[in-house]
Amino acid sequence: MAQNVTLRQDNIDEVLSELTLKEKATLVVGAGYKSMLAGMFGFKVPVPGAAGMTRAIPRLGIPAIVLSDGPAGVRIEPKRKGSKDTFYCTGFPIGSLLSSTWNMEMVEMVGSAIGNEALEYGVDVLLAPGMNIHRNPLCGRNFEYFSEDPLLSGKTAAAYVRGVQSQGVGTSVKHFAANNQETNRFWNDSRVDEAVLREIYLSNFEIAVREAKPWTVMASYNRLNGVHTQENKWLLTDVLRDEWGFDGLVMTDWTGQRNTAHQIEAGCDLMEPGEKAQINELVKKVRKGELKESDLDICVRRVMELIVKTPTFKGYRPSLSPDLKVHAEIAREAAEEGIVLLKNEKGTLPFAKGKSVALFGVGSYQLLAGGTGSGHVHRPYIVNLDEGLEKEGIHVLDFLASQYKDHINKNQPKKTFMSGMLGSPGSTEMPLPQETALLASEKADAAIITISRQAGEGGDRHLEGDFLLTDLEKGIIADVCNAFHARGKKVVVVLNIGGVIETASWKDLPDVILLAWQPGQEGGNALARIISGAVNPSGKLPVTFPVDYFDIPSSKNFPYDYHGKGSMTAGKDKDKDVRNVGYTEYEEGFDVGYRYFGKPGSPKASYEFGFGLSYTAFEVSAPDKNNCVTVTNTGKVPGKEVVIIMEGVHAGFGKTHLLQPGESETLQLNSVIKTN
Ligand code: GLC
Repeated sequence: MAQNVTLRQDNIDEVLSELTLKEKATLVVGAGYKSMLAGMFGFKVPVPGAAGMTRAIPRLGIPAIVLSDGPAGVRIEPKRKGSKDTFYCTGFPIGSLLSSTWNMEMVEMVGSAIGNEALEYGVDVLLAPGMNIHRNPLCGRNFEYFSEDPLLSGKTAAAYVRGVQSQGVGTSVKHFAANNQETNRFWNDSRVDEAVLREIYLSNFEIAVREAKPWTVMASYNRLNGVHTQENKWLLTDVLRDEWGFDGLVMTDWTGQRNTAHQIEAGCDLMEPGEKAQINELVKKVRKGELKESDLDICVRRVMELIVKTPTFKGYRPSLSPDLKVHAEIAREAAEEGIVLLKNEKGTLPFAKGKSVALFGVGSYQLLAGGTGSGHVHRPYIVNLDEGLEKEGIHVLDFLASQYKDHINKNQPKKTFMSGMLGSPGSTEMPLPQETALLASEKADAAIITISRQAGEGGDRHLEGDFLLTDLEKGIIADVCNAFHARGKKVVVVLNIGGVIETASWKDLPDVILLAWQPGQEGGNALARIISGAVNPSGKLPVTFPVDYFDIPSSKNFPYDYHGKGSMTAGKDKDKDVRNVGYTEYEEGFDVGYRYFGKPGSPKASYEFGFGLSYTAFEVSAPDKNNCVTVTNTGKVPGKEVVIIMEGVHAGFGKTHLLQPGESETLQLNSVIKTN
């Protein structure tokens, strides 16, 4: 046997010629769930809690590489059997908050920090960003995704990818494509007209691929016009590679065995998490002449092209101690930039230091830092709003605080292995007797009410008590506003949510509405600094808040009222003929978000795409022929402004740096790349 060659960056074809058929099949099939479940079963793996790995071929110097979630921070086990050390990762704000910053430098900075934690914990490819379009506000994973608009979504994803990959680790833009609901996600058939598909659901991925060159793309679970995306040659080869010039690797989302040979033929290079049966299937199909070995070779080559780029292949020794303090600062700054001020009646905010506030809502004491599922992060801590306010010198009414904390302690959701791995919803809301609101209005200078919503992978949201406020929440807002307004005192509502909720029916009651999204582990500090005026809010909405859910064109083609299990298992397609479960008609076409609500005759939105207030005022010039605009701070305090033009030849957006009163900045709007 010739001396074994060893894989290098410049001898992939030579190594390919040395591989046996079985070894080739081994390279395109992941190593299974051992990494992900190492914390539960104590498997010996390089990075316990990582979502998956590839398989090594030691005789040819091909190592196994590590793939790990997720978009709001690296998701790995924070503790390891036999080690006193901890492996926490910074919990950054969710994707919808990152896009709300409209600040691509900031997004890139967040990406770099997450990429650095991936590098220093031994992860080679970060399974992020999630970037599917917010087709409908009730998709359970919208928190991970950026926007209803493909330009903002694509630019945010590209900035994120550049940041992560600047650290020498890869990304995986996901979930490619038209994965816009969680109900029956393994089987649901997204039926989309091709022109709509290209303009709304693919063009954001195209921007990310062309501008940032992600190392990998993750093919989604769902079908697209009848064919699973993971076996869809038109999508994975004709469009992604031949039209867009993508030269990286395509991996599956974490599904069981499907038609592996078809996946290979379609240009899906890596089956994750991977099972031995897929290896055997490929060997058998090639031997029977049912799969061309040359097709398999194309995928094997791309797996090796990925491997030779990774820190593991380069022998990088992870420190296991990334600078979580510095990254926490970045998480806080990002949160400060992405929080959106939706209402500020008569300049109620900012509150002066020394003010006392009555904090209502369990979310005020138990911030939801992020969503659930693979987008969860094992954070070292979470700063709640009450702690953040005290740090800012705004005092929290203690009799009310102790009632809420007592309620929270008694109503913690049961901890399970899954909730440990994937996060869990907060505790139930505490009933609020009217006399408590009255007593608090005597003692405190103002009131803050936090409304919380949790959502995540594997299920979509619903109307009752989710999109719509509960009767208890409506009662709290009404009683607190009555009590405090009767004394000429102000009320702030904070929305700690992962996705759009109904606002029109109650937004006239409070004086201030602050959209915090799920702002990461530093969220309490970020919110408090905005409330105290230490930071001037500059976030703008990346998505429309409708008056009524049924104003949304996709509302009749979305499973908002489906409570069945559907085929959540990868197994059977038992619901294939059930509308919005087995298949979803994208009948609304281009009418997604502001493309619809901005049309003459369409219903008015409660809060429009791009909306967000500031503590100061700005003047913006018309764009010149180079798509430049000049922004001047005409107010009394420093602030940042976002300029958004979403239609016509000047389509694009930009954000100023912090402008002092009277200061101007000329912005070149971030325009759409020429993608055809
Ligand atoms: C999940 C998700 C995907 C994640 C992967 C690995 O099912 O859909 O976003 O990266 O599996 O955890």
